Amino acid sequence: NYYAVLMAGGIGSRFWPVSTTSFPKQFHDMLGTGSSLIQKTFARLSKTVPEENIFILTNSKYEDLVKEQLPNVTDRQIVLEPVMRNTAPCILLAALKIQKENPDALMLVAPSDHWIEDENAFNDNIRTAFDACQRQPILMTLGIEPTFANTGYGYINYIEDTSTPIKKVKHFTEKPNKELAKQFLADGNYLWNAGIFIWSANTIVEAFEKQMPDMHHLFFRGIDALNTERETKFLSRTYPKADNISIDFGIMENAADVRVLPATFDWNDLGTWGSLYEKLTKDFQNNAIVNAETFAPNSQGNMIHTQSNKAVVIDGLEDYIIVDRDDVLMIVPKEKEQDIKSISKSVQQKL
Ligand code: GDD
Ligand code: MG
Repeated sequence: NYYAVLMAGGIGSRFWPVSTTSFPKQFHDMLGTGSSLIQKTFARLSKTVPEENIFILTNSKYEDLVKEQLPNVTDRQIVLEPVMRNTAPCILLAALKIQKENPDALMLVAPSDHWIEDENAFNDNIRTAFDACQRQPILMTLGIEPTFANTGYGYINYIEDTSTPIKKVKHFTEKPNKELAKQFLADGNYLWNAGIFIWSANTIVEAFEKQMPDMHHLFFRGIDALNTERETKFLSRTYPKADNISIDFGIMENAADVRVLPATFDWNDLGTWGSLYEKLTKDFQNNAIVNAETFAPNSQGNMIHTQSNKAVVIDGLEDYIIVDRDDVLMIVPKEKEQDIKSISKSVQQKL
């Protein structure tokens, strides 16, 4: 009864110029290891969930990329969204479909673009979570020990209970402001939301029925177990009408019975070039280099990413992001990594 939903519809704009709207980050080999992030995520999940039960939810413009990179995935497993509406509509659509196919389904929902190296610990954790959701109608998420007041994450306030690894959640706060995030860290008993959810298809559909009745009402009649022409027509008409809202704001913040399992694996959501730098092996001068032959005298702490075997020569450069593509060469200080999103917007308009 194990199912998984891989969300692969985001555009990863802070990873420009590698990640672009037509070829976003999850389809790139960001770590330079020979497979893309979505291929790695698929392989990791398939240790617990049968491959034929892993569904890919993405925007229709990425259909070809999904088929190219995951050639064994059948049409039944690829669900295409006609427009981007964030994660709540995407998850409801997937849940209704999976529920039709198997009313006893337990489903895991995961982003397709995170870094998780310890596959065994990851699979142990998700089996523990599946077991719990088999027994009770709960909404589960995996929690990460927070290290600083990051405002881009959800914060989970849990009730300490040493008798079980799974904790009851007192409150879920999506993307608090800096002050609140600092307060949470000072208070203790908070975890970051990894954005990896586990529940039964029935439980999450019921949560939508209760908490987002309009969206449930909009979708529930038109979804088929298999992708049909009727359904495609239905989605092109109704999907754009769905609220643009994440599962975190739409469901998790106000859900009745949320539980968290503190993850026992190392996790990084590869949100920025700096977070990728953290995860890569560095040379003796602390430069992280993907794909390039590099000569870097007197240069430290740089993140260098090229697509070809073009040699890179730098001298005296410290803490920079250097990305070389056919059409763009970007050189930006690491401390300005958050600006890349807006830089990319204004540059792409001009190109
Ligand atoms: N199919 C589909 N359709 N996927 C989408 C869409 C969509 O419209 N929008 C986003 N996604 C995918 C992204 O590609 C990503 O893999 C995942 O859904 C999560 O979306 P993000 O946009 O990256 O969310 P976030 O980083 O702001 O916040 C979420 O993740 C954090 C951890 O990384 C939340 O769940 C936070 O609570 C969490 O801490
Ligand atoms: Mg994210």
